[in-house]
Amino acid sequence: MFGLSYKILFFLPIFCLAFAKNSTFSLKTTKCQFISAKNELFCDSYKGNKTCEAIIDSLPLNFTLFAIGEFKATAGQIPLTWFRLFPRKIDNTGWWYYKHMREENKKMSLHSKDKVSKYNTGIVVVDSLCWNQMAQVIKSSSTFDVIQTERYNYGIFAKPFYRVKMIGTLEIL
Ligand SMILES: *[C@@H]1O[C@H](CO)[C@@H](O)[C@H](O)[C@H]1NC(C)=O
Ligand SMILES: *[C@@H]1O[C@H](CO)[C@@H](O)[C@H](O)[C@H]1NC(C)=O
Ligand SMILES: *[C@@H]1O[C@H](CO)[C@@H](O)[C@H](O)[C@H]1NC(C)=O
Repeated sequence: MFGLSYKILFFLPIFCLAFAKNSTFSLKTTKCQFISAKNELFCDSYKGNKTCEAIIDSLPLNFTLFAIGEFKATAGQIPLTWFRLFPRKIDNTGWWYYKHMREENKKMSLHSKDKVSKYNTGIVVVDSLCWNQMAQVIKSSSTFDVIQTERYNYGIFAKPFYRVKMIGTLEIL
């Protein structure tokens, strides 16, 4: 006990000094905007910003706001990276889960053209190179929230709600 409090007392002034010295220090959450008129996706986060050409791949209903989930990746010869998208309910009372409403086998995400398949829907970045750089920006969010998301369909034994880590937002303009 004594050893721990001694360490805290020793390090606290060093932390304070480091923060005070860097007056530009700020927490930054990822913010993306899909600009429909230009077919462009703009993302801004801790590591700066990035713009890529993008398209909407059959999003259900006319959702305009999404929570961006954690970074996801597969290894292998052609590594794929993506982020799940959780739509804000139209009546603004909460968030839906990332599975496509009414079609539970469809998953909503922000991904590159390489991941396009009949199981994926969402916002698609056309150029793989641009996507790689954009994914680095998106995942650099320095804050996150834990939100409750609701499944549209669920069986008797399935949970209706899932808690997910949200690293930012995506808005459709
Ligand atoms: C100061 O803050 C900026 C971000 O605003 C960060 O990029 C930089 O690494 C920080 N420098 C130090 C010494 O912590
Ligand atoms: C995007 O980043 C560039 C380079 O750091 C900066 O000059 C520009 O102001 C940023 N744009 C926005 C809209 O934040
Ligand atoms: C789309 O959004 C508008 C308002 O933004 C709303 O009036 C309309 O009912 C929505 N359409 C559907 C199919 O949900």
